[in-house]
Amino acid sequence: MLDELLVAFGVSATVIPKMWAKPENSNESLRNPDRAPGLSAIHSTLEMYKKQLLPGPRLDTLSDTLLGHISNLMPLYDGSFGQGSPTRVLSLKDFCASVLVDALTRTLFGEHIRNLEPNIVQCLLDFNDDAWMLVFKYPQSANSKLNVARNRILKGFVKYLDSPEHVRLGKSWLIDEVMKMLSNVDINNKDRAAMLLMIYWAANINPYKLAFWMLTYILFDSKLHAVLREETSHAYKDGEIDVTYLMAECPRLDAVYLEVLRIVNTALSARKIVAPTPLGDKVLRSGNTILIAFKQLHSNQAVYGVDPMHFDPDRFLKDKNLKNSSSYKPFGGGVNYCPGRFLAKQEMLVFVALVLNRYNIRLATQNSDGKSMSQPQHFPKLDMFTPALGVNGPIKGTDVWVELGVREGTSLA
Ligand code: HEM
Repeated sequence: MLDELLVAFGVSATVIPKMWAKPENSNESLRNPDRAPGLSAIHSTLEMYKKQLLPGPRLDTLSDTLLGHISNLMPLYDGSFGQGSPTRVLSLKDFCASVLVDALTRTLFGEHIRNLEPNIVQCLLDFNDDAWMLVFKYPQSANSKLNVARNRILKGFVKYLDSPEHVRLGKSWLIDEVMKMLSNVDINNKDRAAMLLMIYWAANINPYKLAFWMLTYILFDSKLHAVLREETSHAYKDGEIDVTYLMAECPRLDAVYLEVLRIVNTALSARKIVAPTPLGDKVLRSGNTILIAFKQLHSNQAVYGVDPMHFDPDRFLKDKNLKNSSSYKPFGGGVNYCPGRFLAKQEMLVFVALVLNRYNIRLATQNSDGKSMSQPQHFPKLDMFTPALGVNGPIKGTDVWVELGVREGTSLA
């Protein structure tokens, strides 16, 4: 499964065996001390993910960088740039996507990647829209939106890898180490670029869509909006958010995060059965694949009641153990348990808290050209038509339009 995906992302089929090969002697481990001895390049990459993303100093550095970029980039995308108007109407989908994907791009690769492919954020968003076609092998033409976006990103990454080390400033530990390790096992820049795309994609499939849904649920419920703004205001000072306070002292925001993640995460966990495995009164036979569908798990009526898709902002407040239930697995579990879950939570809470505190934000009643909307906006429907790889967006062609004004006394960069 993974091999096919690697090839679809651009890794040459002939290189795959080299990626899985275990080092034959200790030289490779010596050349690259962070590479665990005896691990193939693929397994080393997964280990490096964990070293970067599980709690510890490397995660702290990464999250400081990411949260700093989010804070600094907001003014670039909030529509205030170059405009005198105190309020403006924005697409919530575009706002969340632009800020969050741009911030993660700079956090992973540093600023230089944007000189080489200035449109990389839009390319990633285009790629994401149709990435399910790669995963499910849906036929598409050479000049499809997906292929064009993938090829532009790959070209940008090859140029990035060809650049001298001293211009690739500000990149993350993960990118640095994975690139060195792959170079040490003689993987060329084209194939290394495809691995970069894989990392870039994994980090960006879900967060901007989750942020969209969190803000949508909040904006459609004025009482909840007021409660969360009050709760998070204690973490907000001089235009910035105190992450430690936010993570520890904002239970209502935490409960909204958990509940939205439950409702909009429509992914599957897939595992190859490699040995006969007893499960209840059945035995799963080797050679088959088992799928765990989050949507079904997260709508288990025995756990979530007769109307399980109902959004209850207090659900996880009322039952503190619910997040540990076997019917709640938004980040999967076991060997492939999402290592990005700690970073993702900080990213979401900080982004939402910044939006609620920096801006006066509400559902727009006018279009961006100033004309009144003929009717109030409807709550958007979750896209259940596009095959899911994680959090899905709203049905194609729908969005939420928001009216945004910078709050008085808020000093933005
Ligand atoms: C709201 C945000 C996120 C959600 C809902 C999410 C969800 C998931 C899920 C469901 C899996 C598969 C788990 C399984 O098969 O059991 C996964 C895997 C993974 N995620 Fe995330 N993820 C998020 C954010 C991130 C971020 C920000 C990163 C990196 C910066 C990341 C990196 C990864 C990686 C590398 C894997 C593969 C792990 C492996 O196979 O060992 N994720 N994620």
